[in-house]
Amino acid sequence: MKPLDDERIARIRTEFPMLRKNPLMQGKRFCYLDTAATALKPDCVIAAQDSYYQTWTANTHRGDYDLGHEADVRYQRARQTVADFIGAASADEISFTSGCTEAINRVAQGLFSWIQPGDEIITDRAEHASNILPWFRLARLRGAKVVFADLDERGSLTPEAVRRVLTPKTKILAFARITNVLGSVNDARALCALAREAGILSLVDAAQSVACETTRVEEIGCDFLCFSGHKMYGPTGIGVLYGRRQALELLDPPTVGGGMNARFYPSGDYTLEDLPLRFEAGTQNIAGAAGLAQACRFVEEIGADAIGAWERQLKQLARARIEGAPGVRVLNPDSPTGILTFIVDGVPAQDEGTLLNSKGICVRSGLHCAKILPLVPKTGTVRASFGVYSDRHDAEQLAEAIVKGGDILDAYFA
Ligand SMILES: Cc1ncc(COP(=O)(O)O)c(C=O)c1O
Repeated sequence: MKPLDDERIARIRTEFPMLRKNPLMQGKRFCYLDTAATALKPDCVIAAQDSYYQTWTANTHRGDYDLGHEADVRYQRARQTVADFIGAASADEISFTSGCTEAINRVAQGLFSWIQPGDEIITDRAEHASNILPWFRLARLRGAKVVFADLDERGSLTPEAVRRVLTPKTKILAFARITNVLGSVNDARALCALAREAGILSLVDAAQSVACETTRVEEIGCDFLCFSGHKMYGPTGIGVLYGRRQALELLDPPTVGGGMNARFYPSGDYTLEDLPLRFEAGTQNIAGAAGLAQACRFVEEIGADAIGAWERQLKQLARARIEGAPGVRVLNPDSPTGILTFIVDGVPAQDEGTLLNSKGICVRSGLHCAKILPLVPKTGTVRASFGVYSDRHDAEQLAEAIVKGGDILDAYFA
């Protein structure tokens, strides 16, 4: 892995039209630090998505003409690219979704007949709403129960904590590889090994991790892995559900219609297409799949691990500058990711976010869709998250604005 440096980052930045076209925000240098919410897109991704509309528009699985065939080939190639990107054994284990949220819902809804009253689903309180509410709903509809395993002091889920709540009724373990508020890292391999040993299903929410570390599903040993395109420099409206074949076969497709059925009869009976088509009812986001495949190539060419290392470096740079400033408290000093979460005493998180906006800086403030996370104030936190295009100036601009923002009113007018 070739480490990233200032020079390379400067070149990478030129590939992002959002950075080229918006040098300023609020009259200040534009400083985008909300990559954990959504990443900016490079030219190559925009061009790949656009190429569908410009040169090869046709529906997939339907046309008996050259362009229809081309759309089929390119869509399937995109699936293979995604499979290779995460080390899946076969492209059949990849189905496209609208995002990570839909992928997790596809699993939870797909298990409706499989889960039985009294069954238990283990997750934890650091999860994004998208990895809790689908389980709440499944539990409510089927008379099952969601059980929260304890988090350690860094907000991580440990195998020991899962073991403490594991019972013969447990059927699923669902957790994020990297959590979205504190950027805590969960040992996905150990957790999935525990799930396998216990004979239960495992689902890894990889929304925050696919763009900043190499993902190898076979090594992780998960049954399901879900992520979104837009957080990994790909388009919005496209995401991925990976599943091991045997695990996918447990799922009833939650959406039915064209493209996913092999046959249907006046009697009301129907048979399903093979994997993965049975999960892709209706016309799919073909342009998005092309854009996502290009995003996989973009991340691969730079190296996901190199991106992660660079983001961590910037996070630590900013952390070192703000720690010790009056009233500033970093909530995740040691989390090994590019997410820096902090509060400023006496300043509501959203006011701090507004102040940073006035300095040209985009961050997230509030509860970040993790509304039951302990370890953080109920009044919310501010989250700055770095990406492959972030540079030292971004880390310094953020740190300076936070440190000078000690007196928020003075800071506004400074
Ligand atoms: C950890 C995690 N899981 C799931 C999601 C949901 O992703 P999406 O809104 O792209 O479906 C997010 C989004 O922030 C996230 O951070």
